[in-house]
Amino acid sequence: MALKTAVVGMGGIGNTHATCYKNNDLAELVAVCDIVKEKADAAAEKFGVPAFYSEEEMLKAMPEIDIVSVTTSGYDNGSMHFEPAMIALDYGKNVLVEKPICADVRDARELVAFANKKKLYLGCDLNHYFTGPAADAKQLQKDGKVGELVYCIHKVGFNGTQDSYKGPGSPRWQTPYSHLKAFCAHPFSVMRYFCGDVVALQAFLDKPGVRQTAEDPMLSINSIHMKFANGGTGYLISQRGDAMFGYGGWWSYEHCGAKSTFAIENCVEKLHVWEPKNNDPERGTMNQATPAPVTKEYGVSDFSSTFPNRIGAFLEDITNKVPYEHIRASGRDALATLEYTFAAIKSYENGGALVVPEALPPMHGDISLVY
Ligand SMILES: NC(=O)c1ccc[n+]([C@@H]2O[C@H](COP(=O)([O-])OP(=O)(O)OC[C@H]3O[C@@H](n4cnc5c(N)ncnc54)[C@H](O)[C@@H]3O)[C@@H](O)[C@H]2O)c1
Repeated sequence: MALKTAVVGMGGIGNTHATCYKNNDLAELVAVCDIVKEKADAAAEKFGVPAFYSEEEMLKAMPEIDIVSVTTSGYDNGSMHFEPAMIALDYGKNVLVEKPICADVRDARELVAFANKKKLYLGCDLNHYFTGPAADAKQLQKDGKVGELVYCIHKVGFNGTQDSYKGPGSPRWQTPYSHLKAFCAHPFSVMRYFCGDVVALQAFLDKPGVRQTAEDPMLSINSIHMKFANGGTGYLISQRGDAMFGYGGWWSYEHCGAKSTFAIENCVEKLHVWEPKNNDPERGTMNQATPAPVTKEYGVSDFSSTFPNRIGAFLEDITNKVPYEHIRASGRDALATLEYTFAAIKSYENGGALVVPEALPPMHGDISLVY
């Protein structure tokens, strides 16, 4: 039976979630909610479901709701996630929260702990690795074809102009770390997906907030160096501003393993794989030519295709009764990205000092995984 879903926060992204639920057979969109009446009403008309102007009234009126998407924003694009997510969990609902999971890591810790206590699903829209190239790269890893991590490099950002990314006038961008917090959940999530937990990092930032004047090129630069628990190092460069990225476009991820190297270009578009030629007599010398990669193109260029993929995965995991802490892109996974973000802030505030991120909450055993 389809899971009954509701969306709280009917801005652009709330409408995207509602569309994904409408188009997925595992879901039935049953309600939309926004504190701004016009937004709730417009979405209600578009999707043919009732509008609510208060989340609690919606949850009281429609006890049959299974899942609430929290697509509110707030400062750093996440300060208004905590309360609606806590309310939904308190009413016994599963929650899919937008990223960053919260604007403050203390809220995120409480939210994840509360979902655990209530034994409910808490997922986050860490959609950047719900793509064809990431799925194929993960399969290569699982098949042992990549080998032990040597290094990874993730380069990601937007060349956002004043028009596309409103600066000081917007209530979203008021803290010194707006860009870092609003955006870096994504690259951290991708790096952790392929490389595992980060045990130490070091950050050099410049303008980690946003554009301060119309003329400001607003190059929010986050240059972060990481060490992973299972070995290997990683480097993240994330910028938002008027500069263009060169090779790999707005989103590239290169992962060098002991057996092969892969790279994802433009998030959804291409996967390249380089395999060493062990029978090359020149191997290990300066004369060795870099082998040409095997490249797969996915015929996709639209980043928004990641939303139905990620939301579909959440619906599948709940439908399949995956143990609640083990779903893809869980609340705990999102908390990890915020712990790294706060570790990066601490490093930056201490001149680039090495910082060990706070430990994540323990995973609990699930009997179905053991027997
Ligand atoms: N995953 C992605 O790729 C991606 C991309 C862009 C944005 N986002 C995230 O999506 C979220 C929403 O972004 P947006 O641009 O649509 O924001 P928005 O501000 O345009 O829309 C948020 C809506 O939530 C409503 N709202 C706020 N508090 C509410 C509450 N308690 N109850 C009901 N409604 C409430 C507001 O009135 C507003 O209409 C942000 O957290 C952002 O970080 C994610």
